[in-house]
Formats: sequence, C-alpha cells, structure tokens
Amino acid sequence: MNSLSVLQDEHSLQQTLRGLYREEELSAQTIRYTRLIDEFSRSEHADGQAFLIRAPGRVNLIGEHTDYNDCPVLPMAVDRDIIGICTPRDDRKVVVTDTDASFGSCRFTIDEPVPAHRPGHWGNYIQAAVQGLKDQQLEIRGFSLMIDSTIPSAAGLSSSSALVVLSALAALHAGGLQMENLRLAQLAAAAERYTGTAGGGMDQAAILLGETSRVLKIDFAPLRCRTVPFPEDHRILIAHSSISAPKTGSAMEAYNLRSLECSLAAALIGSYEVLQGRARCTLLGELPSGYDPSIALKQTGYTKDELQRHLGELCEEVPLRARLLSALEKSAEPSEGFSLLKRSRHVLSERRRVEQAARALEAGDMHSLGELMHVSHESCRDDMQISCTELDTLVEIGRQSGCIGCRLTGAGFGGCTVHLVHKDLLQDYRNQLSKRFYRDCMGITDPDRFLFTVVPSAGARILI
Ligand code: GLA
Repeated sequence: MNSLSVLQDEHSLQQTLRGLYREEELSAQTIRYTRLIDEFSRSEHADGQAFLIRAPGRVNLIGEHTDYNDCPVLPMAVDRDIIGICTPRDDRKVVVTDTDASFGSCRFTIDEPVPAHRPGHWGNYIQAAVQGLKDQQLEIRGFSLMIDSTIPSAAGLSSSSALVVLSALAALHAGGLQMENLRLAQLAAAAERYTGTAGGGMDQAAILLGETSRVLKIDFAPLRCRTVPFPEDHRILIAHSSISAPKTGSAMEAYNLRSLECSLAAALIGSYEVLQGRARCTLLGELPSGYDPSIALKQTGYTKDELQRHLGELCEEVPLRARLLSALEKSAEPSEGFSLLKRSRHVLSERRRVEQAARALEAGDMHSLGELMHVSHESCRDDMQISCTELDTLVEIGRQSGCIGCRLTGAGFGGCTVHLVHKDLLQDYRNQLSKRFYRDCMGITDPDRFLFTVVPSAGARILI
C-alpha cells in the first residue's frame, strides 16, 4: 500500500501503465488514472494508504457455451478494463463508488448475507466476490473502492466478471491476503453464480490469466491455460450489435436454459451409455471426441414430462438427478421443447473447432482460424440458438467485406461480434461496417462508439 501522493506521481504511474496499454494510448490512460486518484483523494473515503487495481474485459475468439460443459475456449483479456483505487477500512463495511456518478454507490456490511441488492444492480457482483471469499473462511476486512470502467456493459465482453475479479482482489489485498490465480479464477466463477447465472469459468480465468500479445487456450477440469502469440500483422475489431444483452432478465434466463439443456443432454446420453454397458458421463465434455449425440437423443425437442420420465426411469446411475429434476421443475418449457440434440451437437463440434483453432493460431494459419470462426457462428446461430438478427447481419456484412473471420462473442442474445482482420485492410473494413451495418441497417450516425479495436492484454492484478 502507498500514500496517495506516491500514486499521484505521474512519472511512476506512466511506468506502471507501460505495457498494459498501447503506446499511443499511454497519455490518455495516465490522465484517466490520475483523475480517478484525484477524485478518490477528494472523497470522504480517502485514507492515507491506498492501492490501484486493474481487471480487464475479455473477448472470446472461439469456444462459445463450451466452458460450463468442461470443453475448452480460446479467449484473450483486452485493453478495455475496470480500474480501481482502494483503501482498507477499520469497520466491516464495503463502500464502492463509480467515477460515473449515474451508477450510484454500493454499500454493505461484510456480515450481511448475499444477495441484498435488487436483481441487476452492479453491487451484486461485489457482494458475490466478498461472499465467495467468506465461503473459504477467509478473514475479510472492509474496504472503500472507487472504480472507472471502459468495458461496455451488457455487451458480451465480461464487464460483470471483471467487477467480480476486481472486487475479490480488492478484498484480498485490503486484508493483507493473497491467492494464486488459478484458485482465484475458480473461486470468482463459483462466486458469480450467486447472482443467478449458471455460468462457466471462461471469463474469470481469461481476466486473471491474460497476457500481453497472447491468446489463451483454456481447458477445464482441472482449470489450465496455455498461451499462444497473436500475430502482429492482424487486428481484432469489436463491433457491437447495439442490442443490449444484460446478464440479468431475459438474456440470463435464455443463458441458463442453454446450460440446463446441456446438463440434461449429458444426463440422457449418460443413461444411454450406461445401458449399453459403457462408461457413464455427467458432462458433455466427458464424451470421447467424435461422439455422435444423435445415437442417444431424438431429433425433436423434449417436453418437460418426457424429461421428467427419462430422468426418473433411466437415470438411476446418473448423479445430480435431483438437481436436474428441480432445475427442470423451475424452468418454463420452451415452445419447441428442450432442444437437447442441437445443444450437444453445438458443444461437441465447438470443442473440436477450439482445438483446431488453437493449432491454426500456433501455426500462424489465420485463414483456417477465420473459417472456423465462421462455422462457429453458424453453429451458435442454428444449434445453440444464441444469435439474433442484428448479430447475424453484422457477421454477414463482415464476411462480405473481407474479414478473415468473424462471429458473435460471449453469451449471445445481442452484444458484440469479433472480427479478425489483416492490419492493412482494417480502415477500409471498418468503413464498410460503419456504412453497411450501422448507417444503412441501423440508422446509427455515430458508429464509432460501437466499433473499436482491442489488443490482447495482461491479466487482473494489483498495480501499485
Ligand atoms: C458468458 C459466461 C461464460 C460463457 C459465455 C459463453 O460469458 O459467463 O461462462 O459461458 O457466456 O461462451
């Protein structure tokens, strides 16, 4: 921890930020951090000793809705981030404010049970982090935190997971504690489920394990990460569909339904395999590569009654049966039924694509990577059914405008698309999207707020 005047020293601040941001953005970032420190130093929470923290957003190149099935992903942490200045408190309170006053503040006492905020409030993510640490019997101290974010929210770039990770780091450091990144990533993923999403572990792992100029190949069970360099002559352009996909409300319900459908598919396949005298599986990721789910699952959707019967009669051997029956009970039946075959077809084919994509990136074969991104989008659209008209239109226009690969990224149902473009074609490509999607299709006259490049960036940590 340092005195506020040490944090305010512009020269050492710039030294700290070098490497975290692109050279041309260093001055603007230094100004941003200085403003945050100044604003905090004027607030009632400022104390003699403070520290700076940063948690990046992430973009996923390929491997969507695979993580909660224990199948791999290929994301990277990006240079859009949440930064925070934090000071420990002597009471048991957590007080968090945002430089954007319209967000209001979040205050709670560490001993309060979670959740205490209304659904959708950003304070839930801070409480979730604190609760996750408390569950590990860690002695958490109160803290005051002021944050500033450049990650668009409800856009599929993990602003909420970045907040969970940032809050966990703040709570740990304020209490003089430390935790190894892999353990913290798993803790943060479990903690975020307090907010109601049945998410996997990709976001928290990418946010913590990110590395400058490198893409992350993340595997689960056990969580592990290998990094692959991103080629210098290519660019990653993010294009927001302008459709908000909040991790609450209907997008959360649709996300959780996908997660439930995958678990149900694994349970039915598991029962089938046991009846055939073969090994049982409880997650799609446990199936051997090349497994054809249509052997065990029917083409059309399943009704709730049908699934309850299957789970009751066939799954004597499948653990988690009680959990699945209760989740099914609470879930509304989709009009087309529960689409188990489509979901498992997506997950199993996407798992194969992620492996191929990682190999292509390692070999510098960007065209194969791009082609896999296109096929992934089609599978997200047709089998996982997580796309929407705007995302599909953006991807279609992208493909016609000369990108190497593009697809929706993140949970889907709105949010962003990710485009892999050669650096020499970037400006022209950007102009095409501005005109053909934003102006012509959406009537948006200032597309620049929806279009930005990102670079692979370092993972979350205490800066000074
Ligand atoms: C959200 C979840 C992740 C992952 C993606 C989809 O970002 O938080 O765990 O499932 O959606 O790939």
